[in-house]
Amino acid sequence: MLDDVESILETRNVSLNFGGLKAVDNVSLRVGRSKIFGLIGPNGSGKTSLFNLISGIYKPTSGRIIFEGIDITGSQPHQVYRMGIVRSFQYPRVFFKMTLLDNLIFAARGQLGDNPLVAVFMRRRFQKQEKQLVERAVEILEKLGLSEYADRYPNELSGGQLKLLELGRALMAEPKLLLLDEPAAGVSPILVSKIFETVTHFRDVAGLTVFIIEHRLDVVKEYTDWIYMMYRGRLYLSGTPAQVLSDRRLMSVYLAEGSIVDEA
Ligand SMILES: Nc1ncnc2c1ncn2[C@@H]1O[C@H](COP(=O)(O)OP(=O)(O)OP(=O)(O)O)[C@@H](O)[C@H]1O
Ligand SMILES: [Mg+2]
Repeated sequence: MLDDVESILETRNVSLNFGGLKAVDNVSLRVGRSKIFGLIGPNGSGKTSLFNLISGIYKPTSGRIIFEGIDITGSQPHQVYRMGIVRSFQYPRVFFKMTLLDNLIFAARGQLGDNPLVAVFMRRRFQKQEKQLVERAVEILEKLGLSEYADRYPNELSGGQLKLLELGRALMAEPKLLLLDEPAAGVSPILVSKIFETVTHFRDVAGLTVFIIEHRLDVVKEYTDWIYMMYRGRLYLSGTPAQVLSDRRLMSVYLAEGSIVDEA
C-alpha cells in the first residue's frame, strides 16, 4: 500500500536524545496522504516523543523531517501549525462560557472577522465565511454525535464528550495532517468509535491525513490503513494492520513488557 501512496510526511533518520537516553532512535518513516496511520508500541517506546518532533516541540538531535516536500526540521510549533499540522489535545482549550457551536467556530483558522477593519469593510466576504464556518461546525458536531448540545455549554458534557469536542476544535482548523496522541484513552467504547468514525469521514470527504497513537489493538486494526510500531525508540514493525497484528514479534514485545495486550 505504502508504495502506491504519495507521502505527506517523512522522517529521515530522526533521533532525539535526552542525555544518554535515545527516546527516538534513527526513525525513518512515511505517512501517506489521505490515510489513517496508526502508531503503536509499549509504554516509553518513543511515540509521544516522535509526535513532539513532528510538531516542533522538540528539535531532533539528528535527522530531517519533511512535510509536503518542505524540510521543517527545527521549525517552531506555530510555524508547523500554520503549515497544516495540527496536534489535538496539545491545547485542550474548551471555553466553558461558550456554547459548543461557538467553541468550534472560535477554533477555526484564519477568521477574517478577527480583524475589525476586515469585518467592517469586507462585510459580505466576512458573512460568507461565517456561514461556511457555521456549516462546518454543524457538520463536525453531527459526526461527533454532539448536535443536541450545539447551543449548550461544555459543563453538560461527560469527560469523553469533552475529548470529542477537543477533536472537533482541531478539525475546525482544517488540518492537512492531524496528529492524535491517544485521543481514546479513558473514553467509553461508543465514543471511541465516534472519534474514529469522524476522522474516517474527514479522510474520505476531505482527504484528511491522520497519524494516531492508540493502544487498543482492536481499534487500530479496524480503522487504520497502515501501522508503525515503535519499541525502545526504534521503528520496530511496519505494515498493514493484518501484517503487523499477526506478527509474532509484536506479541513477544508486548508480553515481555507486560503491557496492554489484554485491552485488545
Ligand atoms: N522531556 C523528557 N526528558 C527526559 N526523558 C524523556 C522526556 N520525554 C520523554 N522521555 C523519555 O523518553 C522515552 C520515550 O517516552 P515517550 O513519552 O515518547 O514514550 P511513549 O511511547 O509515548 O510512551 P506512552 O505509551 O507511555 O505514552 C521514555 O523513556 C521517557 O521517559
Ligand atoms: Mg505517549
